[in-house]
Amino acid sequence: MPYSKGDVSKGASLFKTRCAQCHTLGAGEPHKVGPNLHGVFGRQSGQAEGYSYTAANVNKGVHWDENSMFEYLENPKKYIPGTKMAFAGLKKDKDRNDLIAYLKEATA
Ligand code: HEC
Repeated sequence: MPYSKGDVSKGASLFKTRCAQCHTLGAGEPHKVGPNLHGVFGRQSGQAEGYSYTAANVNKGVHWDENSMFEYLENPKKYIPGTKMAFAGLKKDKDRNDLIAYLKEATA
C-alpha cells in the first residue's frame, strides 16, 4: 500500500515519542545517535554530511520519498538488513502516514 497524506500534528507527537531521542530535523542541527534528517526527502540513503553510517545504509542507495519511507519505517531492519538503527518499526499504516506528513514539513 502506498503513502497517503496523514495528520501532521499527530505525526509531530509520534516523532517526539518514537524518533526524537535519536534524530534532529532542522537545518544545521547536530547528529545524535542517528543522523540529522534535514533534506532527507529527495536524496539517496546515507548522505547526511558528517554522519558515520553503516555500509548497509549507504549501499541501499534508495531514493527517499514518501513511498520508500513508508516501506522503510514499517520494518527498518527488513528494509535495510544490517542497519544500526535500533527501531522495531511502526506497524500501523496510519501512524506512518501521519509521521511522514510531519517529516516532509519538518525536514524541508
Ligand atoms: C535508537 C535510535 C533511533 C531511533 C529511535 C530511530 N532512529 Fe532512525 N536512525 C538511527 C541510526 C543509528 C541511523 C543510521 C543507520 C545506519 O547507518 O545503519 C538511522 C537512520 C535513519 C534514516 C536513514 C537516513 C539516511 O540518511 O539514509 C531515516 C530516514 C530514519 N532513521 C528515520 C527515523 C524515524 C522517522 C524514526 C522514528 C519513527 C527513527 N528513525 C527512529 C537511529 C534511530
